[in-house]
Amino acid sequence: MASGKCVALVTGGGSGIGRATAVRFAELGYHCAVADIDEASARETVGMLKTPGLAVQVDVSNTASVQAMVDTTVKQFGRIDCAFNNAGIEGAREKIVDYPEDMFDRVMNVNLKGMWLCVKYEVAQMLKQERVISDPAKWAGKPDLCRFQGQRGSIVNSSSIAGLDSMPEFTPYCASKWGIIGLTKTVAQEYAKDGIRVNAVCPGTTDTPMRGRFEAQWPDWQAKTDASYPVGRVAAPEEVAEAVVWLCSDACPFTTGEYLNIAGGR
Ligand code: NAI
Repeated sequence: MASGKCVALVTGGGSGIGRATAVRFAELGYHCAVADIDEASARETVGMLKTPGLAVQVDVSNTASVQAMVDTTVKQFGRIDCAFNNAGIEGAREKIVDYPEDMFDRVMNVNLKGMWLCVKYEVAQMLKQERVISDPAKWAGKPDLCRFQGQRGSIVNSSSIAGLDSMPEFTPYCASKWGIIGLTKTVAQEYAKDGIRVNAVCPGTTDTPMRGRFEAQWPDWQAKTDASYPVGRVAAPEEVAEAVVWLCSDACPFTTGEYLNIAGGR
């Protein structure tokens, strides 16, 4: 498929950073599949898109569900140019001695195994797609920004500043986010020659429902977090979305296996 619209797939697209990114992809002209465990929220996001969208119910920790998400997206739109693997949960707030083992399993299954499954089946799909050799002049200013230099696709994984540093009382969350960096760098090297780029974003605290849940577990969270960012505030989801679409675009064709810290100078 050497012409036509670019296709983006966003997991956890029913809320927060995922929703803002789907909206931004659509503003840039991408057709967007919005996948979430909460199908109603995915449909709500699709209703906000400027381009044709598709709501997909998925549990990223389940193999058959992830395969079906990829298949449904390709059936509807023909290919997947960009995938933003963003679904994640925060788990409980406890020091390790008191941390419930079943919650450890849940967080790792969604955040790390879920990421691994999404990348696995998205890469498998991208390998089936033809390389798109684009003429930079022809594509300049067009919405089809990810069609460049013989690329098959571009994947962005959602890590966190907790994937670069400690996060006391959230051991599985922190460990899963560090794991995502290793997964990203490794898959990027495995498929670099195949024209598939894989990068990660590491947002600082972002104003989403997840932030609200962190605050509910940790009453002085807001005062502490705002003050910990040199810019003096947390991120808006739209600010993270902008970085994600940039990593997916032909603005950075030589960037793969990287993580981008979006943390207000922290
Ligand atoms: P959110 O809670 O607003 O949205 C997460 C979405 O993921 C929800 O729509 C939820 O239904 C979906 N989801 C949860 N489990 C799922 C599953 N098993 N399968 C499919 N979908 C599932 O959270 P937010 O803040 O937008 O976070 C998005 C990503 O960004 C997460 O991976 C999070 O760890 C990461 N992040 C968030 C930060 C923040 O401060 N909000 C900071 C750094 C990273």
